[in-house]
Amino acid sequence: MKQIPQHIAIIMDGNGRWAKKRFLPRVAGHVKGVNALKKIVTHCNDLGVKYLTVFAFGRENWNRPQDEVSFLMRLILKRLNKELDELHSKNAQIKFIGDRSRINSELLASVLAAEDKTRQNTGLNFSICLDYSGQYDIVQAVNRIIAENPETPVTEEILSQYLLTDGIPNPELVIRTSGESRISNFMLWQLAYSELYFTNIYWPDFSPAELEGAIEWYNNRERRFGKISEQI
Ligand code: FPP
Repeated sequence: MKQIPQHIAIIMDGNGRWAKKRFLPRVAGHVKGVNALKKIVTHCNDLGVKYLTVFAFGRENWNRPQDEVSFLMRLILKRLNKELDELHSKNAQIKFIGDRSRINSELLASVLAAEDKTRQNTGLNFSICLDYSGQYDIVQAVNRIIAENPETPVTEEILSQYLLTDGIPNPELVIRTSGESRISNFMLWQLAYSELYFTNIYWPDFSPAELEGAIEWYNNRERRFGKISEQI
């Protein structure tokens, strides 16, 4: 019997290179990337994955050409609006994780509406990291702790509760596509004991079969959490 991780987190990388290889504009890779994401969300839901978190737009991504940034924001808005009813009918709960202050008002309104509509759902928890970075998450947590409890010593438990991922268990499995073996400022605190799976496949080509391969790989890992191996 295959063990399905409770929480899978994904760094969807390689859209630009996927497009370049085909002499297409970078944004064509992003369009294909969202199509790939749709299949992965559906498959996670079918497999009974409880939490799926994807890195859609990092804080450093604002430095990309303005055209590409605007395209990505419009794409996220368009697909969110298009997929919302289906996700809701599948009992999925949608959450956006990141700094909401720089997101344009139209997208922000859709984000809030999607979260509101799906808040009571009990199926797949689908979190989309938008204007997010792991360092930002820790800093905003620390600032809120200082503001609210200046006298109380900070513990790991308290800090975890102030992270934007509060209520979401840490990922057991992290997948990064496109051959890069980096965390790139993703969930730095939350990945402390995650298994990291790197594949050369560009994100637009990452299929449900590839996801199953990653889960298979995860099943062959021995998670020790700092303890010694039981096999020795
Ligand atoms: C990385 O490829 C991909 C991104 C920065 C964007 C990923 C976003 C999506 C797939 C859209 C998400 C949509 C919704 C609705 C959540 P890259 O551009 O860094 O590729 P490269 O490294 O080959 O240049």
